[in-house]
Amino acid sequence: MVRYSKLSFRTLVRRYGCDLAYTPMIVSDSFVKSVKARDMEFTTNPADRPLIVQFAASNPKDFADAAEIIAPFSDGVDLNCGCPQRWAMQEGYGAKLIRTPGLIKDIVRQTVARVPGFPVSIKIRIHDDLRCNGCQRNFEQSSNVCRVSLNSSAMCHRLDRRVFSELKSLPAVLEYLRVNYNI
Ligand SMILES: Cc1cc2nc3c(=O)[nH]c(=O)nc-3n(C[C@H](O)[C@H](O)[C@H](O)COP(=O)(O)O)c2cc1C
Repeated sequence: MVRYSKLSFRTLVRRYGCDLAYTPMIVSDSFVKSVKARDMEFTTNPADRPLIVQFAASNPKDFADAAEIIAPFSDGVDLNCGCPQRWAMQEGYGAKLIRTPGLIKDIVRQTVARVPGFPVSIKIRIHDDLRCNGCQRNFEQSSNVCRVSLNSSAMCHRLDRRVFSELKSLPAVLEYLRVNYNI
């Protein structure tokens, strides 16, 4: 979480048994371009593993460049496709991406090709009404993206916590997990 899950927070939660920690969302564009931005946004140490670094990106090159830089210091990258903040949407980041599943697919594919064997995941929000046509289509298409990323050795797919508190989404989520993960 932005402003929260930095190194000190990750160190604390690992002490209490957290197996896998994520960085806050880091904007890939400035991370790639500026050493100063990198030093400000990302700090780690040898005990800070396993670690997934989450980036905001609006195109395959920025995300793949960032993944290439961070690969030696982490265990995977996560593409934020859920941030609903206005500034992020205006830049084409976060929840804006979920409306263009083809772009997500390109971002994942190019990153897996550029950094072979390095896990890539995406974080999405499930829309309130999964039954509405547009949302259902988006959901299915983003599921395909996840299948693609899993087939290309990407690691995992996170579902937002909110999904589990929304009863009306539950049947669709359970079906998704059953089909994709045999759960
Ligand atoms: C202050 C704040 C910062 C957040 N930063 C991130 C982030 O960097 N990356 C991310 O994937 N989600 C981020 N989130 C979303 C949370 O991780 C979580 O998915 C969400 O809060 C849970 O459901 P909600 O929609 O009820 O808030 C943030 C949420 C808040 C409130």
